[in-house]
Amino acid sequence: MTDTIVHVPLGERAYDITIGSGVIGRAGHLIGPVLKRPRVAIVADAHVARLHLDKLTAALDGSGIASDVLALPQGEATKNWAHLTEVVEWMLDLRLERGDVVVAFGGGVIGDLVGFAAAVFRRGIRFVQMPTSLLAQVDSSVGGKTGINTRHGKNLVGAFHQPTMVLADIDLLNTLTPRDFLAGYGEVAKYGLLGNAPFFEWLETHGPKAAAGDLDARIEAVRMSCQMKSDIVVRDETEQGDRALLNLGHTFCHALEAATGYSDRLLHGEGVAIGCALAFETSARLGLCSQEAPSRVRDHLQAMGMKRDLSQIPGDLPDADALIDLMGQDKKVEAGKLRFIMARGIGDAFVTSDVDADVVRSVLNDALQGR
Ligand code: GLY
Repeated sequence: MTDTIVHVPLGERAYDITIGSGVIGRAGHLIGPVLKRPRVAIVADAHVARLHLDKLTAALDGSGIASDVLALPQGEATKNWAHLTEVVEWMLDLRLERGDVVVAFGGGVIGDLVGFAAAVFRRGIRFVQMPTSLLAQVDSSVGGKTGINTRHGKNLVGAFHQPTMVLADIDLLNTLTPRDFLAGYGEVAKYGLLGNAPFFEWLETHGPKAAAGDLDARIEAVRMSCQMKSDIVVRDETEQGDRALLNLGHTFCHALEAATGYSDRLLHGEGVAIGCALAFETSARLGLCSQEAPSRVRDHLQAMGMKRDLSQIPGDLPDADALIDLMGQDKKVEAGKLRFIMARGIGDAFVTSDVDADVVRSVLNDALQGR
């Protein structure tokens, strides 16, 4: 089977996203041509390393490429100052040079952390994204956003630093738990909802097959998501405008994640899916789209076996006013006003600061009461 390529045409920062089955086995062949010397540094998620690292190092060895490996604990807590220091000091210990390449082998946490380390190491070193979760394959590994969390919130410190290539091996998704796969699918559905109604229709038909493991459906879902992300990033690399569309559902999601302590109670992609449903509900109440649109969003999430209601988040949630307060730390605040991504219909989202807080409050109140 030949790999599927999505090109991200960013001038001198252009790169390819290689999507397919068995990509990891071709890593040496794919990475080799960009190396100045036959050596890479790999920073891996420890859990992913236990499952898949031997395949990666064997593929690199097969092309005569030596590798050093640093394995870091799985989980969002790894994306912090302490691990950034650890990665950078390790790269210095290895005496990596500016011409060398570091490989991020894991999900979004590893990709964001290693990308940021690569951005600041010797004022910028190249890095390869090898995303191993669905969320990372369709979103975080593409587009050059890198960074860490601080005690003030998620992703508040970071840099735009585009990868040299993205290698997305669809086979690695087979070892995800169904919950992690579906959380990543929240970001896939987001692309259809924000800008591509035919893709959302395709997902309504093929999404369940993708969740059940169908390789072609998975490749197509990842390809379309990456193509849409590439198109948006090329229009607005540093998020001065259109790139904010990628945050559909995220203002609600960030408040829910903060309210649940960034814990296992709510995974990021689950929050995105619920957030998309709430964004469409808000849009309908504002008269921007028909009531059928939020119903269709919720029906698809239900058909996929995903969370779509606040009542499906275990434990207590704060009231609507407290959730709105938590939105205030969102990076989309401009001059103190919250920016929301609203929709005129499925596949037709837009950015606005003109959302009446009372409407958001009433949507949240009803959602909290299970209405
Ligand atoms: N995940 C949103 C973005 O890359 O802009």
